[in-house]
Amino acid sequence: MNWHLIGHISDIPLRGSRCIKTPQMTIAVFRTGEEEVYAIENRCPHKGGPLSEGIVHGNAVTCPLHNWVISLETGKALGADDGAVRTIPLRNEGGTLYIALESLVMAAE
Ligand code: FES
Repeated sequence: MNWHLIGHISDIPLRGSRCIKTPQMTIAVFRTGEEEVYAIENRCPHKGGPLSEGIVHGNAVTCPLHNWVISLETGKALGADDGAVRTIPLRNEGGTLYIALESLVMAAE
């Protein structure tokens, strides 16, 4: 995998997110209350809402548009809703964060 440095965990607000634009998509990188970090596509599987603006709770985010709850671990909608966003491999080395963009390019082809 081709890992790309994206910054430090302290760059992301606690229970918040930061967006990274790539040619394929915008990626939302979330930091949970338990200091876990996840990267997923910033596009709700329902109608494309900006998940980065949602509320983070546990290891999930609630979409700001119609309140679907998306797992940050799997990208899947939780509860009765059906759908998923792409998850992006993320490595956390003592707070320094890397994502694997190579797989993203391959997956988008
Ligand atoms: S667009 Fe996210 S819940 Fe509708």
